Amino acid sequence: MMSSEKQANILIIDDDRTIVSGITLFLKKKGFLVDAATNPTDAINKVSNFAPDLVLLDMNFNIDTSGKDGLRLLKQIMDFNDAIPVILMTGWATVQLAVEGMKLGAKDFIAKPWDNNHLLSSIQNLLDLAKPSLERNELSDEIDSIIGQSPVFLDIMSLVKHIAPTDANVLITGESGTGKEVIAEAIHSLSKRNSNEFVKVNLGGISSSLFESEMFGHKKGAFTDAHLDRMGRFAKADKGTIFLDEIGELPMSNQVKLLRVLQERTYEVLGSSETKRTDVRVISATNKNLEQMVYNNTFREDLFYRINLIAIHMPSLSERAEDIPLLTDHFVRQVCEIYEVEIPLINNETYNWLKKLPFPGNIRQLKNMVERTLLINMNKRELNYQDFQHTSGKNQKPGPQIILPEVGLISLDDLEKQMIHKALDFHNHSISKTARSLSLTRSSLYRRLAKHHIPYEPKN
Ligand SMILES: Nc1ncnc2c1ncn2[C@@H]1O[C@H](COP(=O)(O)OP(=O)(O)OP(=O)(O)O)[C@@H](O)[C@H]1O
Ligand SMILES: [Mg+2]
Repeated sequence: MMSSEKQANILIIDDDRTIVSGITLFLKKKGFLVDAATNPTDAINKVSNFAPDLVLLDMNFNIDTSGKDGLRLLKQIMDFNDAIPVILMTGWATVQLAVEGMKLGAKDFIAKPWDNNHLLSSIQNLLDLAKPSLERNELSDEIDSIIGQSPVFLDIMSLVKHIAPTDANVLITGESGTGKEVIAEAIHSLSKRNSNEFVKVNLGGISSSLFESEMFGHKKGAFTDAHLDRMGRFAKADKGTIFLDEIGELPMSNQVKLLRVLQERTYEVLGSSETKRTDVRVISATNKNLEQMVYNNTFREDLFYRINLIAIHMPSLSERAEDIPLLTDHFVRQVCEIYEVEIPLINNETYNWLKKLPFPGNIRQLKNMVERTLLINMNKRELNYQDFQHTSGKNQKPGPQIILPEVGLISLDDLEKQMIHKALDFHNHSISKTARSLSLTRSSLYRRLAKHHIPYEPKN
């Protein structure tokens, strides 16, 4: 157990006295103060008068298997103080209940019959998370190469430092190239698991049929092509961190298999009847909207709640455009170090130009662009925005980041008309410049001006 300054106070709410005394005994041995309530009135009294640090709540309270009592009690606890971490205890058959409970604000759920160590690590995680920041400055060395000063980014980094030392599961979302993997690695390297492996699994790249052999391993002869024993990813990641990348790509049939391991922390190697334990911290990432997938029934709700105790959303680069100069400098320095050339000067105009550029591929795209620009202009002492423009044009799909009005609000004709107005204003009514910026010939621009009844004074 992690050192804790003061003994944490845990309230068990369960009407089954055998369970209460079992858990009480175990938790007391682990150094907690334990209190119990065996009916709802007593439970609410104890929550309001003794301010427990954590609550363990049985969902099948009062042997009312519908779980209504458990949910009602949970709601009352949350109403009283939604900062108290609550762990739900439920039968395997009623996991759906737990999911309802998570929606109401419970932090975790444990299926009965529970495993004491699993229960302990869940308790410890939630207590650690509730502590004031564990952030320590000497740790920042290890994440020096993660660049950013924008407020959104700094918030993420302080969350990362806070949660890294716990074993809480983390879900990282965000567009492609926003740094999800970088953050996952940072969490591992700031965690107490950092002397063990960080195992990355690309769930989008594993065929459905090979999922179990890949994740859990197999014994020689387990299936036709199993010529040798194979170690699975969970075994490799033991005591370390498993990074489940592209978790939104996992087919339903495998989601249930993954849920089982995360829930029970045990699995079976294919072709062997032996049950293996796993001790891993799970970090998942996706650029999909899992909530939407849950709504569409393409992602299991119980798995969703299992993996996202901590949710980190990586902003797109355009949401943190102020970081673009810093990131640019960082990538420039990296390339110059590799090629042992002097760092070129970049003027403010160029930074400002870069800040306005759409980057649908986010940081990865900026990095590629900087690298290409440097390689092409290796011996230049100064880089200006035209140098970057030259390399950006090639790989950039035009304008995928334009924010368009809602469907139904505007016709294509009106949109065209407004864009022409905007371009005319911008180019001070120069027809040739306006036409060029809209990728039109002069004559087709004239035709459109006439069509939209836009007056113009040819200046040229
Ligand atoms: N804050 C940062 N500082 C420096 N480099 C970064 C930062 N964030 C991301 N990068 C770099 O940008 C590139 C993309 O990052 P990463 O692979 O983590 O993105 P991702 O969100 O996992 O992308 P995808 O969804 O495509 O897998 C990498 O080369 C990474 O090193
Ligand atoms: Mg990635």
